[in-house]
Parts: sequence; C-alpha cells; structure tokens
Amino acid sequence: MFFSLLKNRRSIRKYKIHEIEKDKIEKLMEAVLLSPSSKAKYPCEFIFVNDKDLLVKLSQSKPHGSAFLANAPLGIVVTADSAKSDVWIEDASIATTFILLAAEELGLGACWIQIRKRKYSETIDSEEYIRNVLSIPDNKRVLAMVGVGYPDETKMPRQEGDLEYDKVFFNQYGNY
Ligand SMILES: Cc1cc2nc3c(=O)[nH]c(=O)nc-3n(C[C@H](O)[C@H](O)[C@H](O)COP(=O)(O)O)c2cc1C
Repeated sequence: MFFSLLKNRRSIRKYKIHEIEKDKIEKLMEAVLLSPSSKAKYPCEFIFVNDKDLLVKLSQSKPHGSAFLANAPLGIVVTADSAKSDVWIEDASIATTFILLAAEELGLGACWIQIRKRKYSETIDSEEYIRNVLSIPDNKRVLAMVGVGYPDETKMPRQEGDLEYDKVFFNQYGNY
C-alpha cells in the first residue's frame, strides 16, 4: 500500500478548478505536524493559502517553476525559524515531503516549489518577496511552497526499469 503510494506519486502541476474539502485540508495540516524533527525542536511553521490573489502573487516568486501555483486551489508555504535548529533545512524538507505523500494518499496532486536560494529579481530573494506577501516575520526562513489540488494531468508511475539501482550499494561504495 505505502509502496504503491511512493510509486504513484508524481509532481502534479495542473489542477481541476474545484476546491479541496475542509477535512482534506485538515489532514494535510495534521501531516505536516506529524513530521519528524531533529532533537524534537520543531522549528517549522506552515501557511496554508487559498486566497486567489495571494496565490497569484506567490506564483510570481521566481521567474521559473512557480507560475502553476496561480491555478492551484491551495498553496502551502513551508517556513522555519533557523535560530531554533541548525538543521532546519532538513526538518523543513521532510515536512514538505510529508505534504507530497499525504496529498497522494488523499487523492490530490502536489508539486514542490523551491524557494530557498531562489531569486524574485536581481536584488530581491524569493524568500524576501514571500515574507512581504504573507507578512512573515524577518527571522523566519522560507524553504519551499507546495501547490496542491485535484489532478488535471495524469503521469505514469515510475517503472521498475527506470530505477537506478546502480546508485545503491551494499557495505562498500561501489559494491553490489
Ligand atoms: C528540492 C526540490 C525542488 C523542486 N523545485 C521545483 C520547482 O521549483 N518547480 C517545479 O515545478 N518543480 C519542482 N520540483 C519538482 C521536480 O521537478 C520533480 O520532483 C522532478 O522533476 C521529478 O518528477 P516527479 O516528482 O514527478 O517524480 C522540485 C523537487 C524537489 C525535490
């Protein structure tokens, strides 16, 4: 069951118009809060956005790879307090991964949008732009956003033959 979920998950960037039900949004909220955290510091905070104007603004966070968010019924912004944990990137990344997997389990499609290290313009970081749009305090980092919605595209699950087993070793690097 869990393995078919892993296999079927693909990045979905086209969504049907209809809204995501409240109970499914609550499940996604539960999922992010269930994600593990180094030393149980829990430095992450999450902003669930369904306001159309805000989604359009967020979709402009960087020149490439975020435009599809304008047509998503839901965007989830993953933030963290870097002062709370030296490994906030790992914590925020696994929380983002939990969103992708929970979305798949709920029959929704989702796609990660990278924000950390990306630029809105030559002088403004994507993080700074998003902090302004959503009134996020300056001391919070923004790792990523996730677009979520009912899929309006189908993608083939990864096939067994596509998996690069030559990247996986036993006991010693390079040993199969
Ligand atoms: C760290 C990370 C950042 C990503 N950033 C973006 C992004 O900014 N925009 C986007 O459309 N997809 C983004 N993706 C999705 C990847 O493009 C996608 O996972 C990859 O093409 C493999 O496809 P799959 O997810 O369908 O297996 C990101 C994925 C990861 C893990």
